[in-house]
Amino acid sequence: MNTVTVKIRPEAEKFTAEEDAALRRAGSIIQSGGLVAFPTETVYGLGGDALNRESARKIYAAKGRPSDNPLIVHICRLEDLEKIACRIPEEAFHIADAFWPGPLTMILHKTALVPSETTGGLDTVAVRFPSDRIAGRLIRYSGGFVAAPSANRSGRPSPTYAKYVLQDMDGRIDMIIDGGQVGIGLESTILDLTVSPPQILRPGYVTGEMLRKVLKEVDTDVTILGDGDGDGQAPRAPGMKYRHYAPAGELTVVEGSSGAVLAYINRQTAEEEKAGERTGILCSGENLCRYRADVIKCVGSRGDDEGIARHLFAVLREFDDEGVTKIYAEAFDTAGLGQAIMNRLLKAAGHRIVKL
Ligand code: TXA
Ligand code: MG
Repeated sequence: MNTVTVKIRPEAEKFTAEEDAALRRAGSIIQSGGLVAFPTETVYGLGGDALNRESARKIYAAKGRPSDNPLIVHICRLEDLEKIACRIPEEAFHIADAFWPGPLTMILHKTALVPSETTGGLDTVAVRFPSDRIAGRLIRYSGGFVAAPSANRSGRPSPTYAKYVLQDMDGRIDMIIDGGQVGIGLESTILDLTVSPPQILRPGYVTGEMLRKVLKEVDTDVTILGDGDGDGQAPRAPGMKYRHYAPAGELTVVEGSSGAVLAYINRQTAEEEKAGERTGILCSGENLCRYRADVIKCVGSRGDDEGIARHLFAVLREFDDEGVTKIYAEAFDTAGLGQAIMNRLLKAAGHRIVKL
C-alpha cells in the first residue's frame, strides 16, 4: 500500500480550499474502510471508522496491537455522545462541560451501534472529543465516529510529529495528515464513569486536581505509578498492562537528589562505554552540561512540566535514531502533570528504576 502524506498548516485560522479538499478525501477514505493518521492536541491518532468492525481489525493489524486492547472513539459533536453511550451518569455531562473539547477520554456503557471489535470485546466504550481543529474537521468528514489509537506501532512511543507516524506506518495505512508537532505530547487522561466514584485509569494533561473541581470524588487506579505489576493487580485500562512507549535501548530511571543522580549516571555511562555500549542520558536542563555520555538529550527545564510532556516521546525516539543501547533518565516530580510524565517514563523503562 502506498501511504500518502498531506500537509495542513496547524496554526492557520481557516483551512484553504485545498486543505479542506484533502480533509474531505481523508474522510472518504475512512468512510470506505481505510485508515488515516491525523494530529490531535495530545498525540497523532490512527483513524478508522469506529462503527465498522473491519476498520477496527485493520487498525489492530496496522499497529500490531493485541485485539483485546480497546480503541478510543473520537467524536466532534456533543449530541453524538448518546448514539454510542448509554446510561450516562449526570457527572459525565459536567465533565464534558468543563473539559470537552479537550484531552480527556470518558469510559461509558456502550450502545449496540458500537461493534465489539472497536471496544476489544468490552461492553463499555472510551469516548473523546478532541479540540484540535484538523481532527475535528476530519471526524466530521468521516461520518462523526473515528476510532483512533495513538499512531505508533504497538509498544513504541506515541508519535508527536508526522515523521514518526511515517516511520512506524509507511506502507501500512492509506494517508497521513501532517499538522506539525502536537501541543500536549502525552495521551489524554482516561476517566472511567461506569464506576462510583469515577476513576482515573490513565493520567494525562487533565489532572486529578482539575477533575476534583468538577466532581466531588475521584479515585485513581492504584497501578498508575506502581512498580509495574500493580502489586498483583492488573490495570483497569487494558492497554496500560503492556510495556509501552519503549525505545529500543535499555532505559533506566534514576531517582534521588540531583547530585547523587548526576554522580550515579556518570559512573554508569563511563563503565558501560568501556563495555562497548552506546550510552544516552535523558535529563532536565539544569544539569545538562555536567553529564557525560555519547548522546545527551534535554527534555526541558525542571518545573516546566508542559515542556517536558511535549518533548518526552520525541526524545525517546531520538535515542533510537542515534543507535543508543543504554539510556539513563532522571526521575521527575509526580505532582500535577508530573504524574502523567512519570507514568509514561516508567512504562518506557519497563519499570526499571534505581532509587538512590
Ligand atoms: O490522546 C489520546 O487518547 C490518543 C489520541 C489519538 O486521541 N489516543 C490514544 O489511544 O492514546 P490508545 O489506543 O493508544 O490508548 C487507549 C487506551 C488504552 O490503554 C486502552 O486500553 C484504553 O484506552 N481503553 C479504551 N477503551 C477502554 C475501555 N472501554 N475501558 C477501559 N480502558 C479502555
Ligand atoms: Mg497508545
